[in-house]
Amino acid sequence: MGEGISDYTKFCVDLRRQMWMAGVEEELRRLIWQIAVTGKYISAKIHESNRKLAGFKNIYGEDQLSLDRSADEILKNQLQYSGFVREYASEEQDVVVLIGKGREQYFVTADPLDGSSLVDTNLAIGTIIGIHKESIFARGRDSMVAALYITYGPLITMVYSAGKGTHEFVLNREGEYVLSQEHITLNEKGSIYSPGGLRKDCTEGHQKYLEYLEAEGYKLRYSGGFVPDINQVLIKRGGIFTYPALKKSPRGKLRLLFELQPMAFIIEQAGGIATDGADAILSLQVEDLEQRSPVYIGSRFEVEKAMSFLSANP
Ligand code: AHG
Ligand code: MN
Ligand code: MN
Repeated sequence: MGEGISDYTKFCVDLRRQMWMAGVEEELRRLIWQIAVTGKYISAKIHESNRKLAGFKNIYGEDQLSLDRSADEILKNQLQYSGFVREYASEEQDVVVLIGKGREQYFVTADPLDGSSLVDTNLAIGTIIGIHKESIFARGRDSMVAALYITYGPLITMVYSAGKGTHEFVLNREGEYVLSQEHITLNEKGSIYSPGGLRKDCTEGHQKYLEYLEAEGYKLRYSGGFVPDINQVLIKRGGIFTYPALKKSPRGKLRLLFELQPMAFIIEQAGGIATDGADAILSLQVEDLEQRSPVYIGSRFEVEKAMSFLSANP
């Protein structure tokens, strides 16, 4: 290795060091680290699948799991080896899986691969993780101790919060997660909007809200991947992502445990807010794994504006 690289690493703050300096407790640090490292293995799987798209055959001729299920297997195994996790709840599993011995303090939720239908388009996709103590069947505000997401895009990035701010890391060429932005803070008001759902299926209040945003000159930013769409709001320091109640699905599309709670935790720690249109996402009681909720998440101004449109048009 040349001198350049050692000079470079001298100035890098890696994930473990940043978590230690931020005062994240040791077991939680190790768990977050383990999950971040797992992102590398999931990314390798994504690349393998992209090679298939490019016409490369699986040389062993074995049946391939779908990418979602492979990512789920990888995560579950890595969490089990970590020794810190009692139960694993995943969008890819029908029931909560006991992976520990019953004494571990953490309960992990996962959307192992979010936006997997975008893989063939070469858009960014992601992994979303929630970390809880005691139980996941609670209000996020009471049970969550940390959340993170990984983006698989032109770069692999990892954003986490352990309740001490929201921080972004980039996987460098040496395979280390290095700090890129610490204590990310959203502005009170942003300039982008990311609206899920077909407009014709939305409620009147939501339609009026979208018309308001457009009249105010908000720019449309919707990829169809929750992770990159939220990441855009975070990294651009504001704006709104919404997947509203629809006439035929009043609870919306996105899942409370696997998608909404972790993102709400991260965005709140960055000074933003996340509601279902009336109540904070983190105040909603989790009753079952499949539970969904409408969501308005991002800068304070846009989320509160949505709430006022919805309450004026019930
Ligand atoms: P998943 O791939 O985990 O099933 O999640 C897909 C989600 C999310 O990534 C995105 O925000 C939303 O579905 C997009 O839905 P539409 O296709 O209805 O826009
Ligand atoms: Mn998802
Ligand atoms: Mn998924």
